[in-house]
Amino acid sequence: MSHQVRVEPSGHTFEVATNETVLNAALRHGLALPYSCRNGTCGTCKGRLLEGEVAYAGQPPALTDEDEANGLALFCQAEAISDLTIEVREVGALTEIPVRTMPARIQQMERLADDVIRLGLKVPQNERLQFLAGQYVDLLLRDGRRRSYSLANPPHDDALLEFHVRHMPGGRFTDALFNGDYKEKDILRLEGPLGSFFWREESEGPAILVAGGTGFAPIKAIVEHALAEETERPLHVYWGVRALRDLYLGTLAEQWATEHANVTFTPVFSQPEGDSGGARTGYVHEAVLADFPDLSGFEVYASGPPAMVEALRESLPGQGLDPERLYADAFEPAG
Ligand code: FES
Repeated sequence: MSHQVRVEPSGHTFEVATNETVLNAALRHGLALPYSCRNGTCGTCKGRLLEGEVAYAGQPPALTDEDEANGLALFCQAEAISDLTIEVREVGALTEIPVRTMPARIQQMERLADDVIRLGLKVPQNERLQFLAGQYVDLLLRDGRRRSYSLANPPHDDALLEFHVRHMPGGRFTDALFNGDYKEKDILRLEGPLGSFFWREESEGPAILVAGGTGFAPIKAIVEHALAEETERPLHVYWGVRALRDLYLGTLAEQWATEHANVTFTPVFSQPEGDSGGARTGYVHEAVLADFPDLSGFEVYASGPPAMVEALRESLPGQGLDPERLYADAFEPAG
C-alpha cells in the first residue's frame, strides 16, 4: 500500500510506501527535501502539512503540540496514512550530488584536545567524495552501526577527509578510537554526502557562522571554502565552548581573522575557568544578539547541540533575521 505525496510550491509528486517516512521516500525519488539529523531532534525537516494525515511512531522531540496545532509536520519521522500535500522548500543544489558508499583508510589521528581527535580519512585513489562545504557523512562501523560526522575540510582540499571526533565516554566508537583500538591504515566505510546544511554560494550579504563544540567542523569547511573562493562577504565566526581548553582550533580561527579583513572571530565561554583572557562569556546566541541589534539582510549558519540551535531559532528572528536564512545542523555528539 502506498500513498501519493505532492510537494508545494514545486508541484513535484512521489509515492511513499507503508512504514516509510516521507523524507526517505522523497530522497529515494531524488527530491532534496531539507534534513539534517534524520532522527527527529533537529527540526530541519519541519514543513507544513496542507492536506492529508501523517502518523509518528512516538512523539519526535523537535515537534511540539503547538507545531502540530499549527499544521506543521516533521517529515523525517512522519509516515503517510493518506495521500498528502505538503509545503516545504526543496534544496536545489543537492540534487546533483549522488550519495555513495566507499571505503576510507585512516591516515591521521591527531589529538586536538583532551577529548577531541582529528580523524583524517583517505578514500581510494580512483574515488572522490564530492560534497558541499558543511555537509556530513555517516561512518559505517564494523558492527553495522553508523556514526554521523561533518566534514571539516573544504571540498577543494580533499586529499584527506577531516573529522573532529569528540570522546563520548561509554560510546563504542569513540571509546575504541580514544583507547587506541583503531590504528592508522585501518579501513572504515563511509556513506555520503548527507544533509542540507551547506554554504549558499548564490547568497549575498554578511554571514554569521555559529559553532558549538565540535560543531566547529562544518563551520571550518565553510569558512575555508568561502575564503578559497575569495568571498568579500563579511564572515562573523562565533564559537561557543565551555572553556578555553575546548577551543581546540582557536589559533586557526584567529588566523582567519588576522589575515582577512572581512572575517571576525569571537570565542564565547559558557563555563570559563579562571582567567578567560578577556574572551566573551555566556551563551553564544546571547553574544550574537548583543553584537547585531539588526539582523535583517544577514544569513546565519549554525552547527552544534540542539539547545544552541533552538536558542538561535527562537531569538534571532526577533532582531530581524529572516527565519528562511537560518541554516542549521543540530546534533548530539555521537558515541
Ligand atoms: Fe527531521 Fe532532524 S528532525 S531531520
